[in-house]
Amino acid sequence: MGRLDNKVAFITGAARGQGRAHAIRMAEEGADIIGVDICDQIGSVRSLANELAPHFIRVNSVHPSSTLTPMIDNAAIHAAFAPGVQNAKLEDFGETFTAMNLLPIPWVQAVDISNAVLWLASDEARYVTGVTLPVDAGFMVKV
Ligand SMILES: NC(=O)c1ccc[n+]([C@@H]2O[C@H](COP(=O)([O-])OP(=O)(O)OC[C@H]3O[C@@H](n4cnc5c(N)ncnc54)[C@H](O)[C@@H]3O)[C@@H](O)[C@H]2O)c1
Repeated sequence: MGRLDNKVAFITGAARGQGRAHAIRMAEEGADIIGVDICDQIGSVRSLANELAPHFIRVNSVHPSSTLTPMIDNAAIHAAFAPGVQNAKLEDFGETFTAMNLLPIPWVQAVDISNAVLWLASDEARYVTGVTLPVDAGFMVKV
C-alpha cells in the first residue's frame, strides 16, 4: 500500500529536474500522475489555501535551496560560477554554493524536494495547508 494510493498528482515542469523527480517519487507511492511541462500563474499559496479549504483541498509550497538538476548542472552555470576555469565542472564551484547554505553541502538532490512534496501530498499532512516549507539546508536562516 502506497502513501498516495487513490490520489492524483498534477505536476508542472515534469519533463526533467525536480518535476520529474516528484513524478517518479509520487508514482512509487501509488499516485496517478498528470504531468505537464508548461508553466502557468497559479496564484499565491495563501490566497488559494483560503479559497480551497472549504472543499478540503490543501495548498502548500516547497522552497528549495540550490538543487542539483539541469538548471544548475549545465555548461553556462559551470562557466559563470567557476570563472577562468576551462571546461569547469561541478566540483570546481561546489564551495561557492556551499557558502550559501547553513548545512555544509553545496546543493540538495531533487529527491529531497520530492520527499517533502510527497509528505505534503500524503494523508500524514492532511491538516497542513497554507504553509511555505523550506527544504533548503538552512539557506533562509543563515546569518
Ligand atoms: N535547481 C535549483 O537550484 C532550484 C532552486 C530553487 C528553485 N528552483 C525552481 O524549481 C523549479 C524547477 O527547477 P528545476 O531545477 O527542476 O529546473 P529544470 O530546468 O531542471 O526543469 C524545469 C522544467 O520545467 C520546464 N519549464 C520551465 N519553464 C517552462 C515554461 N515557461 N514553459 C514550459 N515548461 C517550462 C522545463 O522544460 C523543464 O523541464 C523552477 O521553477 C526553478 O526556478 C530551482
